[in-house]
Amino acid sequence: MSQLVTYRWHCLQRMLTLILILTISLSSIGQPSHTLVVDANKKGATIQPTMWGVFFEDINLGADGGIYAELVKNRSFEFTKALMGWTILGKPLTEGDLTILNRSKINSNNPRFLRVTLHNNAIGSIGLSNEGFRGMGIKKDNGYEFSLLYRNGGSDKKLNIELVNEKNEKIGVASLTLASTGEEWKKQSVKVKATSTVLKGKLNIWFEGDGIVDMDMISLFPQDTWKNRPGGLRADMVQLLADMKPGFIRFPGGCIVEGFDLQHRYQWKKTIGPIDERQLIINRWNNEFAHRPTPDYFQTFGLGFYEYFQLAEDIGAEPLPILNCGMACQFNSAELASMDDLDPYVQDALDLIEFANGDINSTWGKLRAQLGHPAPFHLKMMGVGNENWGPQYIERLKVFTSAIKSKYPDFKIVNSSGTDPNGDRFDYLNTELRSMHADIIDEHYYRKPEWFLANARRYDNYPRNGSKIFGGEYAAQSDHTVSVNNKNSWFTALSEAAFMTGLERNADVVNMASYAPLFAHEEGWQWTPDLIWVNNLQSYGTPNYYVQKMFSLNKGTDVVTITLNNEVVAGQDSLYASAQLDKKSKELIIKLVNASSKKQKNTIQLKGVEVGTATMYVMQSNDLDAVNSFASPLNISPRLKSVDVKGPTFSLEAQPYSFSVIRVKVF
Ligand code: AHR
Repeated sequence: MSQLVTYRWHCLQRMLTLILILTISLSSIGQPSHTLVVDANKKGATIQPTMWGVFFEDINLGADGGIYAELVKNRSFEFTKALMGWTILGKPLTEGDLTILNRSKINSNNPRFLRVTLHNNAIGSIGLSNEGFRGMGIKKDNGYEFSLLYRNGGSDKKLNIELVNEKNEKIGVASLTLASTGEEWKKQSVKVKATSTVLKGKLNIWFEGDGIVDMDMISLFPQDTWKNRPGGLRADMVQLLADMKPGFIRFPGGCIVEGFDLQHRYQWKKTIGPIDERQLIINRWNNEFAHRPTPDYFQTFGLGFYEYFQLAEDIGAEPLPILNCGMACQFNSAELASMDDLDPYVQDALDLIEFANGDINSTWGKLRAQLGHPAPFHLKMMGVGNENWGPQYIERLKVFTSAIKSKYPDFKIVNSSGTDPNGDRFDYLNTELRSMHADIIDEHYYRKPEWFLANARRYDNYPRNGSKIFGGEYAAQSDHTVSVNNKNSWFTALSEAAFMTGLERNADVVNMASYAPLFAHEEGWQWTPDLIWVNNLQSYGTPNYYVQKMFSLNKGTDVVTITLNNEVVAGQDSLYASAQLDKKSKELIIKLVNASSKKQKNTIQLKGVEVGTATMYVMQSNDLDAVNSFASPLNISPRLKSVDVKGPTFSLEAQPYSFSVIRVKVF
């Protein structure tokens, strides 16, 4: 009897094993399997420290209303509508109790100010409220510095400051006495502590006293800025950049460099020094798209060129300023500075190099030192023109190039190849620039994800000598360029990852690349997709952000070959791969994108090395439309996975729609 039980038990066990084997083999039917060979002895290009960077433009409320932490909108009453953003509280007793005066003869940069006339020892009967940029993000227990410039020729006046929530309930109060200043303008400030957190708070200012008081530059800054700098940048937004360890930061644009017309071009000299002297201009994204108007979008330049250099230094990125080349945006006015009028534009470029690097006894170096940075910023490169094109561009570029190179022969110039990565304009510029021996050519690609997948080999056949490539602006468009329906979906990010393996494989040609645009405010954007989304309190990285970060944090020092049947891995069975050696950490880095819906069973063969421990991070989702959000900011983000590396040959399963980065210690 017991023998029969044992026999039946054995039969059952055998059956179960058979079922298991059958299940496993059935599940791998149709599962492609490949052997990828990484040859550590076949070293390719040195990867430039600048390889992966970021591109900052004041678009989508990126600067004002975004990273520049000022909470008051229209602080100096210089918007086209002088009281935009402001509401009068209470009822003025007589006509003209609140007026905007213009002193353009004595202050052309900041001509307007507010004059308030108070009667009968007004207490809490008249005031002003500022709505902020889509409200003010206020955090419990955080301090807020309220400040203003004022002039009071009479008796003392008092300001009662209130931070209020969406229901107009007070969540922070302070008061400030404005003593008599005679004819002088003086700055006064006071700290307000918030008692609760609100996404859309407001600032109320109630006036007390009798007579006239003039006010300007009414400001409210959180104290928890990046590095706690007064009047500084939003710490959470800078942190997301710092976390990427970007090799460079390209700034300040983008089309804002060009401006709608030349009068509204970006002029760096107007963005440095005391903030009340920085002349505000309309942001060209204010009215660029009829379908996304942003009438309250201006550039105050509180984030100006000194702050950009400081930011670059803080996050360890090479600064890459882009300057206007005497051409306004060719999609707008296409206005040109005549060749006879080009000198001031060229001088701006030369002076910027001196401002960044010059000795403290030089004119511009001295100014840098006075602003607080005697040490040079070590500027090595500059873009001349943003996305300009045509013979008019080449004509102007030649003048800049000759002036810059004759004074600074080693300085590198980034040159525009226009708006598109192909077509007549591109071909013309590419030919011209290469014949000029351009240092770096900036290529832009706003294309569908399918384009990114199909173009992973774009640089395999580029000339190996001569001009280097900067992928200065790129982003996969889930719908089409400038469509409001574009999403930062997993498919877009995955296709960018596939393309980026091609940039990396060609690091001898491609020296730099950056996604565009960088930031977008959830309520104030004009252009989508964008790398990082913010509201007044929070910020999150998109799947595209995590792809950028994975590449940047795992760039390595040298390209090594990774092949499939002796070919680069660039689309076979929807697999894309690149490999690098990191000489500093003594690791091999393998990046593998599986852009197919099938699990792929790969064998990795490492040649020329002994192996140690390995780690692997994977981004994966079966849902190509998946996105991150404020509610689920890490929905699509890298996850640590186990990988079994016992020797130089190991298996690696690539999940459907996945991007994996494996780091293996090597000897
Ligand atoms: O990134 C958005 C815009 O796209 C940039 O301002 C411009 O350079 C390009 O056309």
